[in-house]
Amino acid sequence: MAKKMRLDKLLAHTGHGSRSEIKKLVKQGAISVDGKVAKDSGLIIDPEQQQVTVDGELVTYREFIYIMLNKPPGVISATEDRRERTVVDLLEPEDQLMDPFPVGRLDKDTVGLLLLTNDGQLSHELLSPRKHVPKTYFARVEGDVGEADKAAFAEGVTLDDGYVTMPAELTITDKEQTSEGVISDITLTIMEGKFHQVKRMFESVGKKVVYLKRIAMGPLALDEELEEGTYRELTDEELELLKNHRRGGDA
Ligand code: URA
Repeated sequence: MAKKMRLDKLLAHTGHGSRSEIKKLVKQGAISVDGKVAKDSGLIIDPEQQQVTVDGELVTYREFIYIMLNKPPGVISATEDRRERTVVDLLEPEDQLMDPFPVGRLDKDTVGLLLLTNDGQLSHELLSPRKHVPKTYFARVEGDVGEADKAAFAEGVTLDDGYVTMPAELTITDKEQTSEGVISDITLTIMEGKFHQVKRMFESVGKKVVYLKRIAMGPLALDEELEEGTYRELTDEELELLKNHRRGGDA
């Protein structure tokens, strides 16, 4: 069902200026709703049923935006911050207009797949601990990651605060002998999202994550064509996959 909203909110979301600029446009008689000149910028309208024009031009409205960002290091997963650059600061002004926010968090130094949307319900469901949405990370780890770690992660490890993790799938993809010791490349799929979870899981087995990149979340895989710091909207297929996934229930 379409959401009713204030006329000035619709016009702000579609890039027609601030609330006070929109008020001015209304005063000038530039805004019409269903062919009638609007007199009040606070008018409640149904954007899917009613036609809004600005200077005679039809305003096209959509409620939601879904963005796949390849998060770069050095930005925080928040919408605004007084000191730090946020993932929302990376978006073009016209995309910021729709008030997208990050679905969950990646650490400041973590890179890779981050979904941003203004669809609160979808976000809530993807983050719900009951849904166990899998998240896959690629990591470079100081130390010789081996079969014992695989078994420990499959079983569940105890983090520094006593929390025992759910079974997670560890795959070792490469090893490199350096002058400082062995560096292991791995992928890890976890079904939950505790604070610093991947780093703390490796700490629990005496190893240190030195690079962390999220490569998948639920049915969504990071588009490797996206350079770090760039983004695109989800395709219809990706959005469909995501929506079907959330209907998958509380298993
Ligand atoms: N696990 C971490 O330790 N950090 C992240 O950013 C994501 C998962």
